[in-house]
Amino acid sequence: METPKPVQRPPQPPVPAPAAGYAGELDIDRSDPAYRRWLSEAVAKVHADANRSADTHLLSVPLPADWGVDLYLKDESTHPTGSLKHRLARSLFLYALCNGWIRPDRPVIEASSGSTAVSEAYFARLIGVPFVAVMARGTVRAKVELIQFHGGRCHLVEDPCEVYETAARLARETGGHYMDQFTYAERATDWRGNNNIAESIFRQLAAERHPVPDWIVATAGTGGTSATLARYVRFAQATTGVCVADPENSAFFPGWRDGDPSVRTGTGSRIEGIGRQRVEPSFVPGAIDRMMRVPDAASIAAVRVLERLLGRRAGASTGTGLWAAFRIISEMRESGRRGSVVGLICDPGERYVEKYYSDGWLAEQGIEIGPYVERLERFLRSGILDGPEPEERG
Ligand SMILES: Cc1ncc(COP(=O)(O)O)c(C=O)c1O
Repeated sequence: METPKPVQRPPQPPVPAPAAGYAGELDIDRSDPAYRRWLSEAVAKVHADANRSADTHLLSVPLPADWGVDLYLKDESTHPTGSLKHRLARSLFLYALCNGWIRPDRPVIEASSGSTAVSEAYFARLIGVPFVAVMARGTVRAKVELIQFHGGRCHLVEDPCEVYETAARLARETGGHYMDQFTYAERATDWRGNNNIAESIFRQLAAERHPVPDWIVATAGTGGTSATLARYVRFAQATTGVCVADPENSAFFPGWRDGDPSVRTGTGSRIEGIGRQRVEPSFVPGAIDRMMRVPDAASIAAVRVLERLLGRRAGASTGTGLWAAFRIISEMRESGRRGSVVGLICDPGERYVEKYYSDGWLAEQGIEIGPYVERLERFLRSGILDGPEPEERG
């Protein structure tokens, strides 16, 4: 894959010598009207794009009404770039533009497991700057093709842990900007409102029989979505709990359980988009009420079952959250509690036909979804999800 060519950083204008009689006074004016005009136009383009976009749907998942528990899924796969990362990419671009970090003709570079890079490639093209995605070689081809479709370039590395340093190095070498979603996701997002994902969910639930959800279940890649949800429910003084469902080989679960942000797992996640080998700086553990470890086979079984329930395919990270949502619904049923639970459809399954929807890939990975599909079928009949099995306890 191509890497961008090194360019020189622009020379800073010299500091003028103080005029006679003013020795000791310093005044440096770096204002640059041409750059500010470019910046205003770039921000206006991002705003106009948001203005053309519609909100995502909150789908109701058909469960027996007499269970007394309603499940909703916020369908983030309907954003123009197909995932919940569209929101994040917009926020990261606005944050970096307003911080003066993105400059005309300078590349934006990002470390990503793919979905963020697809959305960022879209915004980079919108404002007219080059974009380079640094990703692990195992990333599904469909995401590489989507990044290229939106005008971005892909720089693939062998070890998923290399993405951060490689992206930072490419930015240094090219005079570009390393967006660094894993650090900035939580702070770039407007968590108090501005129609963020949480505010949108609460507004869309307003006419339901249980308008304040008992639980919202998220998953974590950067941790940004869960941080926004958790901060918002606290800010809104809602009673809602926020649960993060985490796949195998992820550091978030043990890091949160043990209060240890230095956890490293040494093995990459098989559930694309979520589960990291380190606890990312954007993950805000103190705001999270509950975490659940979900076996990868259960995540994949859950999206297969979702296809039957909703008639649509989703990526496996959606299944990770869905399994946790089913577990919570089962507990509510057992304790006779009525209420609602909200999960997320993070991205579409069409990106993963060669992976989570391929029996060949499952066999290659030694993933057996059969027992989990059976447990889900029993759950859909009885409202009780048996287990948890020992591997689900972390
Ligand atoms: C498909 C998918 N689902 C869920 C997430 C989690 O989102 P966040 O980065 O906000 O934690 C990601 C993040 O990359 C993702 O790509």
